[in-house]
Amino acid sequence: MRAAITAVGGYVPEKILTNKELENMVDTSDEWIQSRTGIKERRILEDGKATSDICVEAIKQILEKRKINVQEIDLIIVATVTPDHVFPATANIVSHKIGAINSWGFDMSAACSGFLYALDTGAKFIESGKHKKVIVCGADKMSAIVDYQDRNTCVIFGDGGGAVLLESSEDEDGIIDSILKSDGIGLDYLHQKAGGSLHPPTHETIDKRMHYVFQEGKTVFKFAVTNMAEVSREIMDRNNLTGDDIDFLCAHQANLRIIDATAKRMELDEHKVLINIKKYGNTTAGTIPLLFSDFESKFKKGDNIVLAAFGGGFTWGAIYLKWAYNSQ
Ligand code: UT7
Repeated sequence: MRAAITAVGGYVPEKILTNKELENMVDTSDEWIQSRTGIKERRILEDGKATSDICVEAIKQILEKRKINVQEIDLIIVATVTPDHVFPATANIVSHKIGAINSWGFDMSAACSGFLYALDTGAKFIESGKHKKVIVCGADKMSAIVDYQDRNTCVIFGDGGGAVLLESSEDEDGIIDSILKSDGIGLDYLHQKAGGSLHPPTHETIDKRMHYVFQEGKTVFKFAVTNMAEVSREIMDRNNLTGDDIDFLCAHQANLRIIDATAKRMELDEHKVLINIKKYGNTTAGTIPLLFSDFESKFKKGDNIVLAAFGGGFTWGAIYLKWAYNSQ
């Protein structure tokens, strides 16, 4: 049995933080941010709201579109690095908020590759026949862990995310192949120093601003460019696909230059490369489901789509799927 994405939903908060506004907060410029990253603005979730609220909004869209009773959902997986709490899992909170009393769930922590990890995992529960309806969310409230005094990171990240419904495919369409990788060498270059069991929160960790994202951008960039491009090429070769065979690339939106390098390695025409980084920045686990929700109307049943991501860990990977429906 093959698992297929049969509905998508996406949510970004209304509040916009522009590059111009960031110019008043740190030593940066709209020109620098746009030319180095492709980002113009990003969304910020209001105080008192959390990652679960992003997931809930996205799932509500799916239930509404497909007229599905929430009690039919068997499993909810949430990919995120900004869970509402250290525990319990955000998936439990989401499940409670939407009233999915017949589902179980868990969170998956793989940073910017989180959605790919979660999608592949969710697909296994469909393929095994154990579950009929699985919801996979990718969402992050990055503003909760971004230091708005650090120009290296605060210009990049934003809040948002989305969700997909997985069901068994009625034909050959659906998730066909996946390559997922990780390498702990990445820890030094992209992490949140405190708040975990190594450095629990203390006055000192707060004074030293250790609860924010730390990134050595240049090093991460080099690894991202090489690995995202390589893994995307690998999944093409393994499935005998050329650039002409692929209809769309949905790549993690971290930096326009990284996406361009991947598209080049895949020998893809520009119009096949889906991009929304300009509007939302890097929403970590949220970028790929947000691409689905923004571009759903372009997808046709049977389209060959490659998903690719690279992120903290390091983690990276690619998924090859055939889109399973025509949107209304
Ligand atoms: O999401 C998953 C994983 N993350 C990524 O994939 C992100 C990968 N990294 C990147 O996208 C890029 O490295 C960044 C966008 C983070 C940075 O771009 P860069 O071209 O690699 O810049 P850089 O870090 O090499 O910095 C170049 C210069 C430095 O100044 P000097 O030393 O040349 O004088 C920085 O201090 O730009 C400076 N700089 C800034 N200037 C204005 C760094 N951040 C800013 C800023 N505004 N916001």
